[in-house]
Amino acid sequence: MDILHEKNRSIVLISGKARELITLPQGDEFTIVESADITKAMHSLIDETEHDHTNAVIFLTRDEYPELSNLLGVLGFARVSCQLVIFGGEDFLKSLGSENLRDISEVRTAPLSAAEFTFVVRKTFAVVKDLYLNHALQETYLARLIDTRKDQEDLINMGRALSIEKDQEKLLRLILFLSKRITGADAGSIFLVEHDEEGQKRLRFKYSHTFSRDIRLEERVMPMDKKSISGYVAVTGEVLNIPDAYSLPADTPYSFNPSFDKKHNYRSRSMLTVPMKNHVDEIIGVIQLLNCKEQPEKVSDGTDEAFTIKLETSEDFDRYVVTFDKKYDSLMEAVAGQAAIAIENNRMIMQIQNQFEEFVKASVSAIESRDPATSGHSFRVAEICKAMASAVNVENEGYLGGVSFTDTQIKELELAALLHDFGKVYIDLSVFRKAKKLYPKDFDNLCLRLNYLYRFLELQYTSHEAELMRSIGKEGDAAAALRDFVKEKNEKLQRIKDIKEKLCQMNEPAVMEENPEEVLERIAQEIDEIDCVSVEGDRLCVISPADIMNLSIRRGSLNPMERKEIESHVTHTYCFVSKIPWPPEYKNIPEIALRHHEKLDGTGYPDGLKGRESTLIQSRIMAIADIYDALSASDRPYKKAVPLERVLKIMQEEAEKGILDADLVDLFIRNRIYEKISRDSFREYSLEEPGREKGVSCGF
Ligand SMILES: [Fe+2]
Ligand SMILES: [Fe+2]
Repeated sequence: MDILHEKNRSIVLISGKARELITLPQGDEFTIVESADITKAMHSLIDETEHDHTNAVIFLTRDEYPELSNLLGVLGFARVSCQLVIFGGEDFLKSLGSENLRDISEVRTAPLSAAEFTFVVRKTFAVVKDLYLNHALQETYLARLIDTRKDQEDLINMGRALSIEKDQEKLLRLILFLSKRITGADAGSIFLVEHDEEGQKRLRFKYSHTFSRDIRLEERVMPMDKKSISGYVAVTGEVLNIPDAYSLPADTPYSFNPSFDKKHNYRSRSMLTVPMKNHVDEIIGVIQLLNCKEQPEKVSDGTDEAFTIKLETSEDFDRYVVTFDKKYDSLMEAVAGQAAIAIENNRMIMQIQNQFEEFVKASVSAIESRDPATSGHSFRVAEICKAMASAVNVENEGYLGGVSFTDTQIKELELAALLHDFGKVYIDLSVFRKAKKLYPKDFDNLCLRLNYLYRFLELQYTSHEAELMRSIGKEGDAAAALRDFVKEKNEKLQRIKDIKEKLCQMNEPAVMEENPEEVLERIAQEIDEIDCVSVEGDRLCVISPADIMNLSIRRGSLNPMERKEIESHVTHTYCFVSKIPWPPEYKNIPEIALRHHEKLDGTGYPDGLKGRESTLIQSRIMAIADIYDALSASDRPYKKAVPLERVLKIMQEEAEKGILDADLVDLFIRNRIYEKISRDSFREYSLEEPGREKGVSCGF
């Protein structure tokens, strides 16, 4: 209630001594109180005036004035406005300083007749009321000023809070919390406009909270029409400030649904429903507030009524619930506008994030499709990394007990994992797919030359054999010589076959027991001795230096240059990923991806970093995820899938040797992270071509 409209009473207070000097008029125009002790009477007046305001005209004599004047000093705190009429002589008039004059209306030097009394009282009340009115106006404007300032502060704080929150669910909670706090509402709901499958608008009841009831309501959709209160506001954009939901005017198109009240023993009374309009005035939702508990006589004293008064009984609803003040119509419109912009901003951010993530996934799929043998690898590594980071978050012991990842850091790790082998795109596919020490065409050429050598030798022996056959009968020992010659021929030709077989074996990426260089040197020497020439008569180089270099590879199928090229995928990844303008929270992505092949003992690449401190933990997690997936993959052409027990054993051995982070390997095994990854779940990302040749793939 406004201070200007509160009840006033008017009292004439007359001291015993003053009474002797007054002739009272007939009638009951004034409420007159006579008292022998005027100071005591004033105290009583102050005590009685607890809620309403009192205007008082006090008649007293000069000797009573000093004691009463002390009391007047405290009247500022009481709800009493008064003026004094004092009986005194000339000397009293002279004794009054200017500082006392504010409370004194008149000083009388002679008794008052009834008519004079009536005039003095009327005139003094007029002055008192005027003074009071001025004071009341001042207080009202000051209160409104404070209130407006608080509203402004609330709006500014709300804008700030809403702009910070990036999680959509938390944002909706925050919007409702702040709306309830600002208006003193007991409950509230947020509805968002969405489109159904046919593109028709509908309202989604998204979130609600009732301070006086512990209820969690499920999301649901409802038609966006004028039949419901929220629907009406969403369609028309009007603000509805309803004093009592059960007493709607008969001509309203909307009605109130009392099912919530019935189910939860609640009583919806006052209701404020405002549209959430975005920057182009489009309605994106509705905020509905219920049961204002902000008591009208309290002008924004800083307490949050919404969170102090609990509405339990029907009496509570009658006692505490009031109509939402009119000022909240516009204030909540401003709040809803800010909320709409925050919601839209969040939607846009999420949309951009989703688009970017989908683009990353599509790009990774495209790259992995070049090599079906590793399809899904990056996606599985990303899943393992996420599962490991979550496991680290609940770890209590060891150095991992002091490590934790935020949701944003886990997302950063996931993106880094998806892109960790992106640099493969820069590597010659044939190197990547090289399954044996010689490329198929090089091995085929070698076989052709060996076949030529075989035929060359066979031809040489055959022509010599014919000569020997012709000399049989002419020379006595020719038959014996022919037998020896055929034997030698067969042995030599068989040797070529053996050499071919040996080279075929050596072409396999398996580790050789013999020294391959020595074996190849012997073979080259043997072939050299044959002195094979081409059709043109040139000396034929059957095993080229390149063949010798490749067949000399002791482990795997890659020669040192090819290995270097494959290893360069991490620096290519780094260069590519560094060019993406990541937001600050994702700044570590290039570094995490760059280090996924570093080993703790310094044998990794690209920089051979040594020790745990030299790399981010995210890179060490990724190294484990990468190795696990490479070992357990069943679709690698150069090796069969290693059984799980063996994979875990290998990882443990690597940890014991100080190659992998032992704490993380232990965490991986203890938490059975491998069980959380379904290999088949990433097939959707594969663009496998049936029957395509499989080649050497990552694991690098
Ligand atoms: Fe890699
Ligand atoms: Fe990898």
